[in-house]
Amino acid sequence: MKATIAVLPGDGIGPEVVAQAVAVLEASARLHGHTLHFEQALVGGAAIDRFGTALPEATLELCRRADAILFGAVGGPRWDDPSARVRPEQGLLGIRKGLDLFANLRPVAVPAALVGASTLKPEVLTGVDLIVVRELTGGLYYGERGRRRLNGQEMAFDTMVYSEAEVERVAHVAFRLARRRRRLVTSVDKANVLECSRLWRQVVTRVAGQYPDVTLEHQLVDSCAMMLVRDPRHFDVILTENTFGDILTDEAAQLTGSIGMLPSASLGEGPRGFYEPIHGSAPTIAGRNIANPLAAILSAAMLLRHSLGLEREAAEIEAAVGAVLDKGYRTADLAGPGEPVLGTQEMGAAVIEQLTRVREESPAR
Ligand code: NAD
Ligand code: IPM
Ligand code: MN
Repeated sequence: MKATIAVLPGDGIGPEVVAQAVAVLEASARLHGHTLHFEQALVGGAAIDRFGTALPEATLELCRRADAILFGAVGGPRWDDPSARVRPEQGLLGIRKGLDLFANLRPVAVPAALVGASTLKPEVLTGVDLIVVRELTGGLYYGERGRRRLNGQEMAFDTMVYSEAEVERVAHVAFRLARRRRRLVTSVDKANVLECSRLWRQVVTRVAGQYPDVTLEHQLVDSCAMMLVRDPRHFDVILTENTFGDILTDEAAQLTGSIGMLPSASLGEGPRGFYEPIHGSAPTIAGRNIANPLAAILSAAMLLRHSLGLEREAAEIEAAVGAVLDKGYRTADLAGPGEPVLGTQEMGAAVIEQLTRVREESPAR
């Protein structure tokens, strides 16, 4: 297999965690005889510094011609002036929209070894295995916004807009996924208040008619936020709109003990996808080799699965991550008091070593 992968490290810890994910992909390709061609481009604050825009045309063009995109994170205090016209996040939002990546998959599985790493009780966490399907190219993120002066004071507005077609296509993604899992879709909205949510509920209910073997339940977003920490095992597939999905997945990340564990895949109609950890650029820990690279590495595994059709290679990387955690390897965000701590590079190297050893021990697998 030959493939071109666009690599967009971005800002803060982005370059550090992406370097480890690329190294793991290179190791996997070597073990399986695949040819992966990596091409780097600037995005976010790094692109603003160099070109004055968060999404240079060349970067978007590379994304369009690549088979898959591996992304780190963007943003940081240097570019945080609230009145700035260009912002790092525009790079990310521009790629999502530009490539029509409307379905964002955020799996949340709590590895047995990490049950003790969370601030939540082990008995609540054992066996948690859910996936959030977040609509990614609509809603508040892309609605009309602006400022006005009204009655002598400054007013600001953002608008949430959803069309039937936008809800329908992402709903199909959730139902198809549920068929390969526990066949439960929880659609999350705020239909008691928002008109967008009432349309959302109507369309999702209609789509559910095509999947009689899947159970659909509706839940209000505030109650879902509560249930996610009270009984997370209940959930299988959570389907929700852009803003709710953003917030609920940071909350869900804490089930695994750290936001440094959560990968994501953003998909459109075709196989090309965009892969990134759900965390941000973590500016306060950047450049110190302490960030957890596992979310980026697990995003690379999703890339192999969803864009390149390499399921076995993806599963091997996931197993290697599970195995190093079982051995007690921890980055600082996961380590308990007195537990030895690995740096970003050392954790990446541990995953590669595990991956290589398993292959050498049973090459026929
Ligand atoms: P953040 O996710 O960067 O950090 C939140 C907390 O988690 C911090 O304490 C951080 O140190 C920690 N953390 C995050 N990733 C970690 C990792 N891999 N290993 C260990 N600890 C980790 O969120 P924030 O602080 O709210 O945002 C910082 C910047 O990142 C902002 O500019 C924001 O816009 C941007 N951001 C970007 C993305 C993205 O590019 N996809 C996502 C979220 C936030
Ligand atoms: C995420 C991030 C982004 C989002 C920001 C950086 C625009 O928080 O991917 O979760 O809100 O979608
Ligand atoms: Mn977020």
